[in-house]
Amino acid sequence: MTASTLMAAAGRTLIIGSTGFIGRFVAEACLASGRPTYLLVRSGLISPSKSKTIKCLHDKGAIVIHGSINDQELMEKLLRENKIEVVISAVGGASILDQLVLIDAIKASPNVKRFLPSEFGHDIDRANPVEPGLTMYNEKRKVRRCIEEIGIPYTYICCNSIAAWPYHDNTHPADVLPPLDRFQIYGDGSVKAYFVTGTDIGKFTIKTLDDVRTINKSIHFRPPSNYLNINELATLWEGKIRRTLPRVTVTEDDLLAAAKEMRIPESIVASFTHDIFIKGCQINFSIDKPTDVDVSSLYPELPFLTMDECFDEFLKKIVETPKAIEKVAEEAEGEEEEEVIAMKKPRQETFISAIADKKANEEAIPVPPSTRSEALAITA
Ligand SMILES: NC(=O)c1ccc[n+]([C@@H]2O[C@H](COP(=O)([O-])OP(=O)(O)OC[C@H]3O[C@@H](n4cnc5c(N)ncnc54)[C@H](OP(=O)(O)O)[C@@H]3O)[C@@H](O)[C@H]2O)c1
Repeated sequence: MTASTLMAAAGRTLIIGSTGFIGRFVAEACLASGRPTYLLVRSGLISPSKSKTIKCLHDKGAIVIHGSINDQELMEKLLRENKIEVVISAVGGASILDQLVLIDAIKASPNVKRFLPSEFGHDIDRANPVEPGLTMYNEKRKVRRCIEEIGIPYTYICCNSIAAWPYHDNTHPADVLPPLDRFQIYGDGSVKAYFVTGTDIGKFTIKTLDDVRTINKSIHFRPPSNYLNINELATLWEGKIRRTLPRVTVTEDDLLAAAKEMRIPESIVASFTHDIFIKGCQINFSIDKPTDVDVSSLYPELPFLTMDECFDEFLKKIVETPKAIEKVAEEAEGEEEEEVIAMKKPRQETFISAIADKKANEEAIPVPPSTRSEALAITA
């Protein structure tokens, strides 16, 4: 099939939230699949990194249209004029209910054959986190019920956790290296979860779009190769850095207390962490309803990136780009007192150069004593 027939066959797809963490992966995968890809981008002030993302997607063939999903009239016009057939929303937690206006616009647009609302996490009808995560789930549930009531064909993407170290206070842990100083282990560390990379979330999401088996279904991502508890995750990372790190227990009460602080978004992540690693919300049910589909059963030939490969990628970032990591770390620390930075910098340098030497001597890497915030600051 030539690129042009592929373009003609695949429906015009509008992605909302492509400047966001999940949306970018979905937009990249959509473009890679050859589908005509439209991006809804909000007008107004935009950060340099978001402008760069839009330019990069535009250079790959995306058509950028401006607007907000809160404007029903505009959305109806955009959907109609661009003959959009598939709408994928990846708006963030603060904008979940804005999708109710979007749903009204879709309802008035007969061209639209499929809607994927902003889910990209747990099966929100089954998982039941404490507050403040519960409020977000209630909003997502409201969006689901509205779609079902109106009868818009839908697909719910339940992709579980992002493949990365699951920090309990970071919404986008894939942007952060796994720990370099010590592991925080939730409870006894024995509750398993599924980890999926952003690129796989994008790839499999796009696969579902033209597949009749995914209409009005919840698609569950449960790659067996990435089914791990946090102790296993820690051991895997220790194998990569060839060093054993201390393990500190974060109890159920600690997580509940962090959730109760109501610091947004950290407390939302704490409530989800509690739900995943204490209550087992990803694994305490079978995917046996008529509306459930395991994505691996649909596309058995398509592999997931394994957690092992994912950690290799993190390690590569440390080995290959120590200078870049240093620079980002310094920028992240921009707010700190100069003497604090001066104190931390040599410790980071020691760590980075030790890792760079690792291939040569195959010895244990001398991780310097450092703080968790220091590990967080060394972003890739
Ligand atoms: N499974 C996981 O581990 C995981 C991790 C993170 C997120 N998620 C889920 O993935 C989904 C996306 O979250 P995220 O963290 O990727 O979001 P995000 O990074 O906050 O990005 C949100 C995107 O939505 C856009 N947006 C927000 N309101 C809009 C509106 N009214 N009109 C048009 N665009 C709008 C934003 O545009 P601007 O650039 O204009 O702000 C941005 O591009 C959520 O449902 C979240 O719960 C899951």
